[in-house]
Amino acid sequence: MAGVTLKGVKKAYGAVEVLHGIDLDIRPGEFVVFVGPSGCGKSTLLRVIAGLEEITAGRLEIDGRLVNHASPKERGIAMVFQSYALYPHMTVYENMAFGLTLEKDTPKSEIDARVRRAADILQIEPYLDRLPKALSGGQRQRVAIGRAITRDPKVFLFDEPLSNLDAALRVQTRIEIARLHERMHGTTMVYVTHDQVEAMTLADRIVVLNKGRIEQVGTPMELYSDPDNLFVAQFVGSPAMNILKATAEAGRIRLADGGGAVAVEAPAGAGGALHLGVRPEDLALAGPDRALLTGTVTLTEALGEVTLVYVDLGGAGEPLVVKLPGAVDLARGSTVHLAAEPQSLRFFGADGRAIRPAAPERRYA
Ligand SMILES: Nc1ncnc2c1ncn2[C@@H]1O[C@H](COP(=O)(O)OP(=O)(O)OP(=O)(O)O)[C@@H](O)[C@H]1O
Ligand SMILES: [Mg+2]
Repeated sequence: MAGVTLKGVKKAYGAVEVLHGIDLDIRPGEFVVFVGPSGCGKSTLLRVIAGLEEITAGRLEIDGRLVNHASPKERGIAMVFQSYALYPHMTVYENMAFGLTLEKDTPKSEIDARVRRAADILQIEPYLDRLPKALSGGQRQRVAIGRAITRDPKVFLFDEPLSNLDAALRVQTRIEIARLHERMHGTTMVYVTHDQVEAMTLADRIVVLNKGRIEQVGTPMELYSDPDNLFVAQFVGSPAMNILKATAEAGRIRLADGGGAVAVEAPAGAGGALHLGVRPEDLALAGPDRALLTGTVTLTEALGEVTLVYVDLGGAGEPLVVKLPGAVDLARGSTVHLAAEPQSLRFFGADGRAIRPAAPERRYA
């Protein structure tokens, strides 16, 4: 098992810098997931670790060894891409063995053992003699992963490996990747995805990237429950956390843009402009006496297990999204009162940084 350490890593293409100084410690055996908006530098960071791109500044260590100028092969990594790029004229077996046959020093029996072990882990033995065109998308992606396994890497890098698969196959292959991490006895894995569920379920820790910088690193539950800032609060979770512009005055909260008073205490020490955050799933229908917020239904979306209700709070702000369990029949234009447990509310300063109460129960260890 090998760790990966980045210290002040920068990457520029010509005059354009796309990674602005990344500090990150990936522990041996850890499953780390990179998320962030398109163009934020996820693939670049992965390619930098792989050695497909050279860094412009900083230090990159794999397994405690400085690898700034090491070739991809010397780094002991294997990468799986979104497009599986199998050789169409080679069988599954040949595709998986190909990288090893190029290394003249690996005996045939060793290559065979490694291909069969990878095929066993991924349960693709029945397809070893087939050509890639005779496989489904999910099976092809498993062969691509198998090709990476045969190289016996210290670190696996995945760049959106499931994004070409349909929804059902994504779920199945996601579970296989989780199982793979277990069966590989915790080989270090770094995984890029756009998919919230993949990030939440696969990651030991998630790295949220934005414009070439790290916004926060933490376990999935830390990011969900205790985001450091507005960006992370709105990026993790779906639908996104509702963010209401507000002001704190004499310990009370009033919504900006004409939204009225909110029946909740302002966090200690907060004054002036701030943001109030509440997740759609933390809001519930309530009687007027218990209401935190009151508004008018503008739209409902029944998704089966939940109903999304969009509520106009009467101010100039965006409608609030409320996620209610089951099927809920609410007519457009009807008035709803919404309650939330006070401890589910999040506050962010005008600068976007989380305002955390001193109470220890809000912090995850
Ligand atoms: N070879 C290159 N030359 C110049 N700019 C590049 C090059 N490769 C990437 N970039 C730029 O670097 C930035 C980060 O790109 P990157 O591919 O890492 O983003 P990403 O987070 O993987 O996005 P996506 O989610 O769309 O895959 C982008 O602005 C991109 O245009
Ligand atoms: Mg990318």
